[in-house]
Amino acid sequence: MILVTGGAGFIGSNFVLDWLARCDEPVLNLDKLTYAGNLGNLAALADDPRHVFVKGDIGDTGLVAGLLAQHRPRAIVHFAAESHVDRSIHGPADFITTNVDGTFSLLEAARAYWQELDGEFMTAFRFLHVSTDEVYGSLGPDDAPFTEATPYAPNSPYAASKASSDHLVRAWHRTYGLPTLTTHCSNNYGPYQFPEKLIPLVIANARQGKPLPIYGDGGQRRDWLYVADHCAALRRVLAAGRPGETYDIGGGEELPNLALVHTLCAILDARLPKAAGGYAEQIVHVADRPGHDRRYAIDAAKIERELGWTPQESFDSGIRKTVDWYLANAAWVSAVQSGDYLRWVDTNYAARAMHSESV
Ligand code: NAD
Ligand code: DAU
Repeated sequence: MILVTGGAGFIGSNFVLDWLARCDEPVLNLDKLTYAGNLGNLAALADDPRHVFVKGDIGDTGLVAGLLAQHRPRAIVHFAAESHVDRSIHGPADFITTNVDGTFSLLEAARAYWQELDGEFMTAFRFLHVSTDEVYGSLGPDDAPFTEATPYAPNSPYAASKASSDHLVRAWHRTYGLPTLTTHCSNNYGPYQFPEKLIPLVIANARQGKPLPIYGDGGQRRDWLYVADHCAALRRVLAAGRPGETYDIGGGEELPNLALVHTLCAILDARLPKAAGGYAEQIVHVADRPGHDRRYAIDAAKIERELGWTPQESFDSGIRKTVDWYLANAAWVSAVQSGDYLRWVDTNYAARAMHSESV
């Protein structure tokens, strides 16, 4: 079996669902179920014996050591993290605890387990660390996209915590020989993304007649990748990536935030017309994110050349599928829009004055 951490979050749950749709190798899913973890994402696996869910913290050394000894996974795919940049600005401590200390604990448990494995099993073992393009910082308008050789320059507490975890993973390979793989992916979108992130937030707010908040001028650019393509890339890296290597993963479809939000509004106008006017009238400009990275773009030539991975979904088709998924799963959205999430909305937007855009 494989051990997946953070498998109840957005990408982790997509990965677990895709994995078990493609093969019968069981998944041991360790997730703390923070506000971002949602077992509802995995409802389809409720009676599936191939999926073993354990609620727990990657930083709980005793728990992780016990799970490794009992289940003897051939690989660890490490998604578990605090993942939202704005939350990291409001409260960085959890990001250090989980992303840095938690990854350190997990690496130590993995090392102790791996060192005791028998020859062939030891050689085949992999620790796949799922990281982000945000560790590279921000590109200028005419800069070439990030590659695996781009120097680290993290700008947010989130990016710095992920960069720290990347360095630990690298060191555990170089010093102890742990067979690690690290990936840096661009912005994902698709089903089950928590509605604090731009795309699901805009779809949910549009439907609920609320403002669609654009940070600053909305000229920040992101390289969007459909989540199933990210999961496919991770399966390729796990199967054929070279230990100690890093792989950049991206969709190659860069878009300014404002243009993205206008695209979402146009799709919603067609799918769910308002009685009067269009959804773009709900767009407002709010105070910018401190330290906001202006541009991310990924050069995914290495993973294409070495592992034969390319994205299968175009942004045009992926974003339509995504809007349709959120419209068809309004109950999922309202279920997560409660408790901690509502308090977070107050914290994040209360101090940002809203300015309507003329459309
Ligand atoms: P998410 O916030 O949706 O999910 C994170 C999951 O980790 C949740 O289920 C949460 O309960 C769990 N978790 C948090 N702390 C934990 C702990 N201490 N122990 C065990 N479980 C814990 O995040 P996501 O968007 O699915 O991102 C998953 C990973 O992919 C992260 O490592 C993130 O840095 C990386 N990544 C995300 C994107 C993106 O666009 N979302 C892009 C590139 C890389
Ligand atoms: O690049 C990969 C990263 O993508 C991942 O490592 C992170 O875990 C993931 O959250 C994502 O980070 P971003 O900060 O780019 O995603 P977010 O959806 O929060 O924001 C996307 C862009 O939209 C960003 O430029 C900020 C802007 N934005 C976001 C929100 C929530 C707004 O303009 N308004 C908003 O209300």
